[in-house]
Amino acid sequence: MSWGLHSLLVATLPYLPKRLVGLFARRYIPGETEHDALVVTEDLNRQGFEVTLDILGEHVQHESEAAGVAAAYVHLYHSIAERGLRANVSLKPTHLGLDLGFQIGEANLAQVLDAAAATDNFMRLDMEDSRRTDDTLVLYRDCLQRYPWVGPVLQAYLHRSRDDLAALMSPQLNVRLCKGIYLESPDVALQDEQAIRDNYLALVHQGFEGGAYLAIATHDRALIDAVEAHIRSRNIPPSRFEFQVLYGVPMAGKLEALLTKGYTVRVYLPFGETWYDYSLRRLQENPKMVRYILRNLLRK
Ligand code: FDA
Repeated sequence: MSWGLHSLLVATLPYLPKRLVGLFARRYIPGETEHDALVVTEDLNRQGFEVTLDILGEHVQHESEAAGVAAAYVHLYHSIAERGLRANVSLKPTHLGLDLGFQIGEANLAQVLDAAAATDNFMRLDMEDSRRTDDTLVLYRDCLQRYPWVGPVLQAYLHRSRDDLAALMSPQLNVRLCKGIYLESPDVALQDEQAIRDNYLALVHQGFEGGAYLAIATHDRALIDAVEAHIRSRNIPPSRFEFQVLYGVPMAGKLEALLTKGYTVRVYLPFGETWYDYSLRRLQENPKMVRYILRNLLRK
């Protein structure tokens, strides 16, 4: 899609009725409430999928809002436990107040981590844009000192990620690898799709060699095939990795095929009241998103 067409679409989006945008968003976001998300989680669990739940939002501007987000995550951990769901939690540090100051983000995160520990569950720290990478990795290390069941995300498009992986490496490491969703400049991030894919595979090789548990988060089926080929050639057991996808992205039977092979497949399920602003911001930031959504709608 040309930048011109993308700009036109993005400029038009805020003027579309929210209900119309909601029709498109529903495919990717199951609802506004925790209850909506837990119902879908139950269904995904029944189909054999694990889930990671994310409350939509980022860059909160008020301390009270960040505290409310922390409370909602604490509640979510307890709801998952009460319902016996196979689900963990993914969260964004700026949603918990990182932009308001490191200590604020850290304190809110500590509360959520306590709930993860109390319910014996895992916590994933999503990775945001490159201005937050250092702080997010410091937060991860802080959390790890208090509770082992926590994991970071590394983005294959960042030039720094192989060094970051080397620095984080330990048999205890549970890291999600993704390509990276934010628009970054060439001095911090690879721009070429094939170069990003190659770096992703290099991270996979490095991660397995170092003994880490890898969450392979991608919809790129050729990349999934390449990872699978590596897994087979090295006899890497399924207990060392899982595949992850975003809820609603069409995968043409690939996920069921992975389940049949005995692999773990986890679906990232975002929910929340801010779905509209969040969806618009994502679309405005990244032309790829508009292209994906249009393509998927046409396919439908
Ligand atoms: P690619 O971009 O090549 O997409 C392959 C195909 O998948 C596309 O052709 C399209 O058909 C489809 N597709 C991909 N994304 C889609 C979408 N959103 N909607 C519709 N169709 C889509 N990023 C980040 O910076 N920080 C993070 O913490 C995370 N966390 C995360 C968790 C999980 C579970 C996943 C799957 C992804 C992320 N990401 C992320 C996003 C990731 O970085 C990346 O931008 C997207 O997954 C798209 O890249 P792919 O690897 O899927 O390949």
